[in-house]
Amino acid sequence: MFKIVRREEMAQGTVILNEIEASLIARKTKPGQFIILKANETGERIPLTVAEMDPEKGTITVIYMVVGKSTALFRDLKVGEGYQDVIGPLGKPTHIEKLGKVVCVGGGTGIAVLHPITRALKEIGNEVICIVGARSKDLLIMEELMRTASHKLHICTDDGSYGHHGFVTDVLRQVLEENDVKLVVGIGPVPMMKFLSQVTKEYQVNTMVSLNPIMIDGTGMCGGCRVTVGNETKFACIDGPEFDGHEVDYDELMLRLQAYQEDEKQSYEEYCTLTGISP
Ligand code: FAD
Ligand code: FES
Ligand code: MG
Repeated sequence: MFKIVRREEMAQGTVILNEIEASLIARKTKPGQFIILKANETGERIPLTVAEMDPEKGTITVIYMVVGKSTALFRDLKVGEGYQDVIGPLGKPTHIEKLGKVVCVGGGTGIAVLHPITRALKEIGNEVICIVGARSKDLLIMEELMRTASHKLHICTDDGSYGHHGFVTDVLRQVLEENDVKLVVGIGPVPMMKFLSQVTKEYQVNTMVSLNPIMIDGTGMCGGCRVTVGNETKFACIDGPEFDGHEVDYDELMLRLQAYQEDEKQSYEEYCTLTGISP
């Protein structure tokens, strides 16, 4: 068992942090890599990015949004309990390079995925401008951590309850107008990454996005995570999860993510009925 040693709730309990004992994974993981977790014998295999690794303590941290049955099952695990299986690190680490000015854009729990990448880009000597967004102030996560990981932090909320009233792409456009930006890293909901990539294409700035297709084995065997990038089929689990944002077929990715929506809804409702927790 991989024991949970710390558990925190964020964004009004919709986002959960679990610090998990997994010393071998903690030693090997690099920014941008992910793990696959199973809560119990019959549980689904769920991919989550390693948001933090502490090789000395032998722990890794995941931060996830509760969106369905398996993430609800994870949410209900207490400190001292644990995951039956944790596999990883998987995927290619982020290519971290000194380029000059870079912009890191995160939306929703994409901010958790972006945090170790932002920190590594700053540590290697880049000037890092960060833009983070959430639907409202209450749903914004990791503000102080992102402030420390970057040189400048812009905040956006869809409802205007905090920071800029509007989307991260509005602020991104302004930042690209005023700065000589060498790279944009964008991680968040698929529509956000799609529109962000359209903006950066206009300004001809290299763009990296992290894709989250449905994954099963995570090791290149099932084909479940296939995405089209530059008219070629790629497996996000072994060729990614990061890709050139200008080359991704986002519409296909969105369709494939919805493929099991009815079954997912039903299994979440059954889990809520069984546990007596309201969805
Ligand atoms: P469901 O109700 O089963 O699904 C909700 C939606 O999640 C689905 O419509 C589908 O779009 C997606 N989904 C379902 N099953 C899978 C699956 N096996 N693999 C991928 N997506 C699935 N989320 C976070 O909140 N934090 C992270 O750090 C994070 N990192 C990820 C890293 C990678 C490489 C990938 C591929 C996904 C990541 N995700 C992350 C998304 C997370 O895996 C899904 O939200 C989760 O699997 C949903 O499972 P569920 O049973 O709770 O919800
Ligand atoms: Fe099976 Fe990528 S998850 S090939
Ligand atoms: Mg599921």
